Amino acid sequence: MSQHLFLPVVMMEPHLSHHLPAFPCLSLVFPVVSPIPGTSQDSAISPTQGESEDLDCGHPEPSSRIVGGSDARPGTWPWQVSLHHGGGHICGGSLIAPSWVLSAAHCFVTNGTLEPADEWSVLLGVHSQDGPMDGAHLRSVAAILVPDNYSRVELGSDVALLRLASPARLSPSVRPVCLPRASHRFAHGTACWATGWGDVQEADPLPLPWVLQEVELRLLGEAACQCLYSRPGPFNLTFQLLPGMLCAGYPEGRRDTCQGDSGGPLVCEDGGRWFQAGITSFGFGCGRRNRPGVFTAVAPYESWIREQVMGSEPGPAFPSQLHKPQSGPQEPREENCTFAQPECGKASRPGIWPWEAQVMVPGSRPCYGVLVSDSWVLAPASCSLDYPIQQPRTSDSPPRDLEAWRVLLPSRPEGERVARLVPHENASKDSASDLALLQLRTRVNLTAAPSAVCLPHPEHFFLPGSRCRLARWGRGEPAPGSSAQLEAQLMNSWWCHCLYGRQGASVPPPGDPPHLLCPAYLEEEEAGQCWKDAGWSLLCREEGTWFLAGHRTLSNGCLRPRAFSPLQTHGPWISHVTQGAYLEDQLTWDWGPEGEETEKQICPPHTEHGACGLRPKATPAGALWPWLTEVHVTGNRVCTGILVAPGWVLAATHCILRLGSTTVPYIEVYLGQAGARSLPQGHQVSRSVISIRLPRHLGLRPPLALLELNSQVAPSPSALPICLQPGGIPPGASCWVLGWKDPQDRVPVAAAVTILTPRLCHCLYQGILTPGTFCVLYTEGQEDKCEVTSAPPLLCQTEGGPWVLMGMAVRGSQELFAAIGPEAAWISQTVGEAHFLPPSGSPYWPPEDSDLCHQDLAGAASSPRAAALLLLPLAPLIQG
Ligand code: ARG
Repeated sequence: MSQHLFLPVVMMEPHLSHHLPAFPCLSLVFPVVSPIPGTSQDSAISPTQGESEDLDCGHPEPSSRIVGGSDARPGTWPWQVSLHHGGGHICGGSLIAPSWVLSAAHCFVTNGTLEPADEWSVLLGVHSQDGPMDGAHLRSVAAILVPDNYSRVELGSDVALLRLASPARLSPSVRPVCLPRASHRFAHGTACWATGWGDVQEADPLPLPWVLQEVELRLLGEAACQCLYSRPGPFNLTFQLLPGMLCAGYPEGRRDTCQGDSGGPLVCEDGGRWFQAGITSFGFGCGRRNRPGVFTAVAPYESWIREQVMGSEPGPAFPSQLHKPQSGPQEPREENCTFAQPECGKASRPGIWPWEAQVMVPGSRPCYGVLVSDSWVLAPASCSLDYPIQQPRTSDSPPRDLEAWRVLLPSRPEGERVARLVPHENASKDSASDLALLQLRTRVNLTAAPSAVCLPHPEHFFLPGSRCRLARWGRGEPAPGSSAQLEAQLMNSWWCHCLYGRQGASVPPPGDPPHLLCPAYLEEEEAGQCWKDAGWSLLCREEGTWFLAGHRTLSNGCLRPRAFSPLQTHGPWISHVTQGAYLEDQLTWDWGPEGEETEKQICPPHTEHGACGLRPKATPAGALWPWLTEVHVTGNRVCTGILVAPGWVLAATHCILRLGSTTVPYIEVYLGQAGARSLPQGHQVSRSVISIRLPRHLGLRPPLALLELNSQVAPSPSALPICLQPGGIPPGASCWVLGWKDPQDRVPVAAAVTILTPRLCHCLYQGILTPGTFCVLYTEGQEDKCEVTSAPPLLCQTEGGPWVLMGMAVRGSQELFAAIGPEAAWISQTVGEAHFLPPSGSPYWPPEDSDLCHQDLAGAASSPRAAALLLLPLAPLIQG
């Protein structure tokens, strides 16, 4: 029970389940509280006699009174009982007659089977389950009765009756509640109370000393509640309420029942008596917006209850209703409802962040954090690294060290004083947890500014393509002149993990919290800017609401932070500490095609310079080949180039430098192109070439040229170097010629080929081959895919491995490729950061002897395919 309770989410529509990650579940997990010390088991005093039909009910004594989740006063709710199983509190219940307790069926039914009654006991008259137990007593359970049609909580009939082995001892702290007759109408909007020892927030158990909690909840009309539940929440889930269910709570959430409250009562006052209107049944998380708690309505069960308790004296009381609601039995139909909007994450203009909090620690530079509620600021723990203070929770005066601290908030000229500092428990160990919460001494009024940023629940996923911004975080100083207007788009998680994570790391499927979040920046903002030691937070927007999606304390060198630690995994810690931070459900939900992949994936090998040869999944805008470069040479010629390092492109010399030309051409290169169609913002990258390098080849014109770019390109899904592998063709690789069908539209096409063995190649092309040339055989029907004037590359890929560049087309040829292998030394000396994979496969370049060539093959190069096929039985192809 709490002010704002949160839980894992309900999975309600079975037909939706294939879209769903496995974690969300109905909020039905029961926390176990404790065994009860010092209670008397069935300490027998006979029931109060003489209360037959007129059992006094619904009267607490003394008449006394949770404010949105607070401790109840002892004796306020004398019918509240705690149901114990296996030594701890599992569910709530209410005393309705000396020998009868009303509760929820789902507390006792697991996988369709009713648990044995003798495993349960009922604790009556208890206030704090860890305090003095005076007035409390235990009763064993003789029988558990559940309606025949109960199957699953979300299908209704979630009601149960427990017959006690011996009657309860009635006293001021143990009294029955009144039950409503079937005709009883509880008016919409009535303020009622729910009570229990359940979680105070999602996955956050009630702290010691386990004092009974109470919360005021308003009854919602069936139509209004259905209206809220018809609006898709996270995972696009909606829910159909059934007759016999009743909702209570608020559209804005924050007050609700939660795990462990089930079976407990929702009571409303009428004419000085308390009637039980509902039984806590289930919810969708706890305290979430537009997801009020669902209760079993008690009134419709009048006759079922009467039947079960028949013959027991005294039975429950069903007093008649004194004040019938005006509207009568026909409740007004509220077909539409007002959805509560998030109360966090509103910025009038990106970059002007109303939650920006500057933590001023004497003697150091301001440290940036964010306001997450009206009294809590989230900032890097490293802001206060010189002050490693772990504050004792109980002290009411701030420790001396915090005395001088101030937090500056927008539109508040006076700095706020700090009452408490709660560093994350792993704060010093890993940067993903470099977080601390600071409590302000006085609550601030949340208006347009200051206001709080929204935080993601653990099951909130920022999807690829999400629009995000960077904001200041921590103590670093952005270089002068840089604004916080940096726009970015999230990359898919496979890409992010494989590019910035470890090689061989397994990428979580879309439904798991990611280890990293990677933004792709817009190219214009990228170029030439440099930030030193700056920390950044990643703010992502959904439906106009800003979420703190990730954080990064230090960016390395001059590049933007490439990978952020996601914040979502810290949601439970933040809400536990603050009891009021704005955790918000996912507002937009669209996995897109990529969400269909649910298997784990493994990142292919990296080289010492990082990842290479990765290829993102095709986007709707087209297929991307991140290393494929358009090389525009003066005079409108376009050649194919391949990015081999952040600042280097490899191309065929003959395509770049034309014979007879004496001038060095002006060359520009473009990456991230998927043909003439334009790609989403941020995909295209262009650079100019500042030098052309050729290897030294005695007499011959070397086939390969390296083009040096004016500035490096940061690795991204649209620009990533290829891997190189000297020597053999990777075993089991598939090989492709990657070119354009038409040099005009330049839509990349890949033609499948098989690389021939050196001997076969030699025999086919006797005489015309220079050493270090690959010959390929096109797979049936692939010959005409690529044109050759642009000198396309030859690439190979092993299953699950990176793409590797094998060669560049020889002038005018479709089948012959100048191999990279023989030039490996030159490339690595010139480029430095080229991605050479360790050699694998059998070496391709044994010294050749041509004696074994089949007669018929000499000069058969005009039809290499036919010739090769002729030779097949003699010399197996190197498998493509
Ligand atoms: N089913 C939960 C229990 O067994 C009660 C959940 C109530 N959830 C809510 N959001 N109202 O304790």
